[in-house]
Amino acid sequence: MPSPARRLPLRRMPATTWARQAPTWREATPARIDGALQRALLRPSGNWFVLAAADEIRADRPFGRVVAGVEVVAWRDPDGTPHAAPGACPHLGAPLCRGAVEAGSLICRWHGLALSGAGFPGWQPFPVHDDGVLLWVRLDEAGGEEPLPAPVLPERPQEAGSLAAVATLAGRCEPQDVVANRLDPWHGSWFHPYSFVGLKVVEVSDGKDGGPDRMVVDVAFKVAGRLGVPVRAAFSCPEPRTIVMHIVEGEGTGSVVETHATPLGMDRDGVPRTAVIEAVIATSPRRGFTAARKAAPALRPLMRHAARRLWRDDLAYAERRYFLRTR
Ligand code: FES
Ligand SMILES: [Fe+2]
Repeated sequence: MPSPARRLPLRRMPATTWARQAPTWREATPARIDGALQRALLRPSGNWFVLAAADEIRADRPFGRVVAGVEVVAWRDPDGTPHAAPGACPHLGAPLCRGAVEAGSLICRWHGLALSGAGFPGWQPFPVHDDGVLLWVRLDEAGGEEPLPAPVLPERPQEAGSLAAVATLAGRCEPQDVVANRLDPWHGSWFHPYSFVGLKVVEVSDGKDGGPDRMVVDVAFKVAGRLGVPVRAAFSCPEPRTIVMHIVEGEGTGSVVETHATPLGMDRDGVPRTAVIEAVIATSPRRGFTAARKAAPALRPLMRHAARRLWRDDLAYAERRYFLRTR
């Protein structure tokens, strides 16, 4: 049996210390980052917001989340059909996420009103979209844009050969701060030396003249010590609250990391809160990856953990950006 080091295209990265790597601040100009952000913010979302991971919405209990200031409750019929609706009971306002789901109906805990996806006077369900990994809800009043029949989804690997994991965190900032953090790939090996080695931005395109609007980086995902898995990754924003990283060359080509920023509401101090809902959809033609897929239930928490560690730091970046631009 070959060692994992021979099966994976591990590369020994040049010896360097954190302080001696090449500074990236000259390339990471505020104008470049802000230009990419402004173009993303102008794209239509059709008022679709990522509510949660698809598997968080279940047929045996309701799920509740405030999205863009709107209290939302979501559940599924026994056949898996998802529903989302206002989170307050139309009778006296009980929080429906504290109720129960019985044969596709949401039962209010206060007086037993049963509500189905068909709606009730004064209680109209919202359009939902289950993309297989994430559940989206369309909030037209909160979104204020021209509604679209479905969310703008990034290109993804075929579900059959892929492994998906979703991690959710929340921070005190707005969605644009989360997207701006990712539109600064230059911070990669400086700010996340535990994950990335030798990150280099090799292309910054602004989408003019019909070309792509993306940033392409060469980077190694750190495995242990100086060993890394080198990949080329492209970052783009299909809609204003999503930034996607596609692995375009190297191990896991075709894999996607989708970062979705969902506005929640204001906290007690009047500071906006934003959820970062990140879906890692990994694929690889390698034999080892088939084995990895079989181990999926065990791997998922690990994938979530890796994303969490990065996101603790990235949220600090996003919160700092929000603080500086609003104080
Ligand atoms: S508040 Fe829900 S049934 Fe009365
Ligand atoms: Fe980061």
